[in-house]
Amino acid sequence: METWDAIRARRNVRAYEDRPIPREDLTRILEAAWRSPSSQNQQPWDFVVCTDRAQLRELSKVWRYAGQVAQSAATIALVAPDVGDARRRDSIQYDLGQVTMSAMIMAADLGIASAHSSVGDQRLAREILGLPEDRFLAWLVALGYPADRPLRPIERPNRRPFDDVVHWGRW
Ligand SMILES: Cc1cc2nc3c(=O)[nH]c(=O)nc-3n(C[C@H](O)[C@H](O)[C@H](O)COP(=O)(O)O)c2cc1C
Repeated sequence: METWDAIRARRNVRAYEDRPIPREDLTRILEAAWRSPSSQNQQPWDFVVCTDRAQLRELSKVWRYAGQVAQSAATIALVAPDVGDARRRDSIQYDLGQVTMSAMIMAADLGIASAHSSVGDQRLAREILGLPEDRFLAWLVALGYPADRPLRPIERPNRRPFDDVVHWGRW
């Protein structure tokens, strides 16, 4: 896919075909995430890749709106350092947002759908993933082939009007 088509085709897909993602495609998605920029190139992230069905089912319980993780072909758990400083925390979240989007655009390019999930139960997440004490599970990115229809560029996305959002020069 062209980059422009991948950007327009990406959407949150929460139901997937029962079909594994080839290892090389999964690795490509992870490499796109790994290449993401970060503040001072600190790369405050680790990726735990889950493909085991029983583990995915358990992982889907860390948040009430993470049900798609149970059915996903693979889910990338974005793990970050648990820091106290608010400014550093904001910066880490910005970096993780870039990681997420890089992974999702790369996935869309390969015809693979994705979905974000937040995390509520850190204790459960820690237990399932075996995280060290100084890390937390920040986000989950579920991946799989869409059960509804293939990814295609969306002509009219559900967004605030472009001209309301974009301010040229001044607000
Ligand atoms: C920070 C963030 C957290 C999100 N958390 C969840 C979530 O916990 N569960 C979920 O189903 N979708 C989640 N989403 C997906 C959004 O609902 C979705 O991106 C938004 O409705 C726009 O739809 P689209 O991604 O299909 O364009 C999250 C998205 C972002 C950016």
